[in-house]
Amino acid sequence: MDYRADQFAAPLYVDRDLLPRPIREVTLLQNLPWKYRFTTWYVLPIGVWKVQVMRLFNYLRSNRRRWIPLILAAGWLVVATGMTLNNQAADPRDGQIEVHLDPTKVLGSDSCEKCHAAEISVWKQTPHHETFQTLHRKPEAIQIASKLGISSFKHDSACIKCHYTMQQSASGLEPVSGVSCESCHGAAKDWIAIHNDYGGPGVTGEQETPDHRLQRLRASIAGGMRNPANVYLVAQSCYRCHTVPDEKLVNVGGHKAGSLDFEIVAWSQGTVRHNFMHSHGQSNTVSDPARLRLMFVAGMIADLEFSLRATASATEKATFGLTSAQRAARAAKRLEAAQGQLQQPLLDEVLQAFKGVKLKLNNREQLEAAADKINTLGIRFAATVDGNTLEAIQKYIPSAERWK
Ligand code: HEC
Ligand code: HEC
Ligand code: HEC
Ligand code: HEC
Repeated sequence: MDYRADQFAAPLYVDRDLLPRPIREVTLLQNLPWKYRFTTWYVLPIGVWKVQVMRLFNYLRSNRRRWIPLILAAGWLVVATGMTLNNQAADPRDGQIEVHLDPTKVLGSDSCEKCHAAEISVWKQTPHHETFQTLHRKPEAIQIASKLGISSFKHDSACIKCHYTMQQSASGLEPVSGVSCESCHGAAKDWIAIHNDYGGPGVTGEQETPDHRLQRLRASIAGGMRNPANVYLVAQSCYRCHTVPDEKLVNVGGHKAGSLDFEIVAWSQGTVRHNFMHSHGQSNTVSDPARLRLMFVAGMIADLEFSLRATASATEKATFGLTSAQRAARAAKRLEAAQGQLQQPLLDEVLQAFKGVKLKLNNREQLEAAADKINTLGIRFAATVDGNTLEAIQKYIPSAERWK
C-alpha cells in the first residue's frame, strides 16, 4: 500500500476530545550534576591558588594565635554555604529549567536507527545535528551567553530548549544531541512501539486494514507523536523553535528574534528532507504538490499560532515584542491573501479567531486564547482538507531554487 494513498482522505483527529493539547514548555526542577553548579572559582589557574595558599600558610606558621580568626572564618563559611544551599532549595524559581520535550520520555536517535537509518544519515548533514558540536564554539553564541551570564551551554536552560535534546539518565539531565528526531516528532517512549505496529506480529503494512491504520495513527498521536500524517503537528514543532519565543534571550542576549524568512515548504524540502518510507529507504523524494500545498497553508496557520504565543509572553516594548507582533500581523495578512483565493471555511475561522485580538504588551490571556483556538483549527485543517482542493494557491508555493 502506498504510504500516502489515504493520507488526506482519513479524517485524522477531528473529534474535539482527542485533539492534542496546545504545545507548552515543560518546566522541570533542574537536576544538574555538581560539576556544573559552580563555574567561576575553580577555573582560576592552579598556579594562582598555589601561591595564595602557600602565602597564607607561611603567615599562619609564624604565630599560633593567628589561627583563631581563620577557624572562625571557616566556621562562618560552612554555615553560610549551608544557608545558601537551603535557600536555593527553597526558592522554586532557582534551578528550574525549560525544555520542549519531557526528558523522561526521550529515547534518543539511536533508538530509531535500526529502522530509519536513511533518515538518520540525512539528519546528520543538517545544522540541526551539527549544532550539538558547533554552537558552543561560535563567537556569536559565546557573546549571547556572556550577556546572559551562562556558563555551560549544554546544561543551561536558556539554550537547551531549542539547540539540544535532553534526556533524563540516572546521573541527571543529560544533553544527548542537537535538534533531533524527537524534537520534531515528539518524545518517543509512549509511541515508539505503537507507530509501526500494523496489527500484531507478522502483519505487514500491505495487509493492514484502513481502520487499523487510522487507529494506529491516532494512538501514536495520543502517545505524544508529532506524526507527519497530520502535517500541522510537525509544523508546530518548527515554529515553536523558529519564532524564538524567549524575551530575555532576544532583548538581553541579542539572539535573533526568530527566523523571519522561515516558510515550511522551503525549509523542509531542502537539506532537512527525509522522505524514504514509500521507497523502503531507497530514495529521498520531494513530497507531492498536493501535500506541499497543504503543508504551506498549515505552516502559515502555525506561524500565526506561535507568533501570537510569542507576543503573549512579551512584557517590554523592545525587539522581541515588536518583532513577534509584526510577525503575527504578517502571518494573518498572508493567510488572508491565501483565503482570498481559497474560500476555505476553516481558514475563515482562523482569521476570525485573530480578528478581535489586540497585538499589545501584557495581553497574555487574550493572545493565548486565540492561539489555543488556532491550534485546534490548524490540526483540524491538516486532518480534513485535501491538498488537491488548494490548487488556487499553487503560485505561492516556493519552487525548488528557494529550498534551503
Ligand atoms: C522497529 C522499527 C522502527 C523503529 C525502531 C522506529 N520506527 Fe518509525 N516507523 C517504522 C515503520 C515501519 C514506519 C511506517 C509506518 C506506516 O506505515 O505508517 C515508521 C514511520 C515513522 C514515521 C512516519 C509516520 C507516518 O505514518 O507518517 C515517523 C515520523 C517515525 N517513524 C519516526 C520514528 C522515530 C523518531 C523513531 C525513534 C524514536 C522511530 N520512528 C523508530 C518503524 C520503526
Ligand atoms: C526558543 C528557541 C531558541 C533558544 C532558546 C535559543 N536559540 Fe539559538 N537559534 C534558534 C533558532 C531557531 C536558530 C536559527 C535561526 C536561523 O538561522 O534562522 C538559532 C540560531 C542561533 C545562532 C546562529 C547560528 C548560526 O550559525 O547562524 C546562535 C549563535 C545561537 N542560536 C545561539 C544561541 C544561544 C547561545 C542560546 C542560549 C543562550 C540560544 N541560541 C538559545 C533558536 C533558539
Ligand atoms: C527544537 C528546536 C527546533 C525545531 C523543532 C526545528 N528547528 Fe530548525 N533549527 C533550529 C536551530 C537551533 C537551528 C540553527 C542551528 C545552528 O545553526 O546552530 C535551526 C536551523 C534550521 C535550518 C537551517 C537554516 C540555515 O540557515 O541553514 C533549517 C532549514 C531548519 N532549521 C528547518 C526546520 C524545519 C523545516 C523544522 C520543522 C519541520 C525545524 N527546523 C524544526 C531549531 C529547531
Ligand atoms: C526538523 C524537524 C525534523 C527532524 C529533526 C526530523 N523530522 Fe522526520 N519529518 C519532519 C517533517 C516535517 C516530515 C514530513 C515531511 C514531508 O511530508 O515532506 C517528516 C517525516 C518523517 C517521516 C515520514 C516521511 C516519509 O514519507 O518517508 C519519517 C519516517 C521521519 N520523519 C522520521 C524521522 C527520523 C527517524 C528522524 C531522526 C533522524 C527525523 N524524522 C527527524 C520533520 C523532522
